[in-house]
Amino acid sequence: MPTYTRIIATGSYLPEKILTNKELESIVDTTDEWIYQRSGIRQRHIAADGELTSDMAIKAAHKALEQAGLKPSDIDGIIVATTTPDRTFPSTAVIVQAGLGMSAGLAFDVQAVCAGFIYALSTADGLMRAGQAKRMLVIGAEKISAILNWEDRATCVLFGDGAGAVILEAHEGQEGAQSDGILSTHLYADGSFKDILYTDGGVSLNGISGHIIMHGREVFKQAVNLMSDAVTAALEHNNLQVSDVDWLIPHQANIRIIESTARKSGFSMENVVVTVHNHGNTSAASIPLALDEAIRSGQVKKGQLALFEALGGGLTWGSALVRL
Ligand code: ACO
Repeated sequence: MPTYTRIIATGSYLPEKILTNKELESIVDTTDEWIYQRSGIRQRHIAADGELTSDMAIKAAHKALEQAGLKPSDIDGIIVATTTPDRTFPSTAVIVQAGLGMSAGLAFDVQAVCAGFIYALSTADGLMRAGQAKRMLVIGAEKISAILNWEDRATCVLFGDGAGAVILEAHEGQEGAQSDGILSTHLYADGSFKDILYTDGGVSLNGISGHIIMHGREVFKQAVNLMSDAVTAALEHNNLQVSDVDWLIPHQANIRIIESTARKSGFSMENVVVTVHNHGNTSAASIPLALDEAIRSGQVKKGQLALFEALGGGLTWGSALVRL
């Protein structure tokens, strides 16, 4: 029997400090109305001074472990998807590993910006199918506030900090649309779009982390087209229709991107999980954060079929179809 992987638990963490649109009005030349109309965002959480990406990741991981009834030593692999690592090296994943009191198993970071969680999930799925690990933590964690230019009103109003985690477990069993677990992942990248969303700093470029530069309209257009292509790829690969999927759980970048992608893919907004109004765009953390909130609130239930889709700087994008 083939090995496949299941999401057995989820957890998330948001920093205590909430930054509302109203408060942003005193930081940049903007209004609550502009931000809400263009993005659907009402507020975002911002990490405290000295609160690191790994701190948020560890808190989300503890929540997931608690839900699963597992100890850190039951985990034999950690992947952290992040664009905002604590340090250039070592990876945030090994800092999380040490923070959880673990000293065994594999640990590394994945950098695919806002598509990072889907890249990390796919990588973990492949490693577990290959027998490299039995139970893995896949975490999306971001301190995006650290790479925002707080004088650029076109970007600083859109993002927030946070972390989300899932625990994956390897199982033997039947594969295909009727089984549970990860049914498929589809990953894509096109570096010819590298100049529409990037930071103006980096280790080998100038030795600083830099700030986000974004050509918003171009990103918007590509995001809708490419994410709906990834949704179609997932459905076709599994011989499924939109009506077979219980929940679309998109990267929470902007309500207009979420709505346009859902519409283009044939989903009703009633079947779309939306948290962007409370979190802003938390990059790689956004899907596991949305998933955890939806599960804990009872909106999304065990046994339901969920389709994740995301796009980020690169451009990188992808989808994952998961029976929860
Ligand atoms: N407050 C008030 N006015 C603003 C603000 C602000 N925060 N930001 C920009 N403006 C102004 C602009 O200066 C411009 O003024 P002008 O007409 O006098 O020149 C006007 O608003 C319109 O600006 P546009 O950039 O054309 O506005 P648009 O309707 O395209 O909306 C937005 C901008 C929200 C960024 C949109 O392009 C978008 O959502 N893009 C996708 C970006 C995104 O979500 N990126 C996240 C990362 S990628 C991902 O995760 C998928």
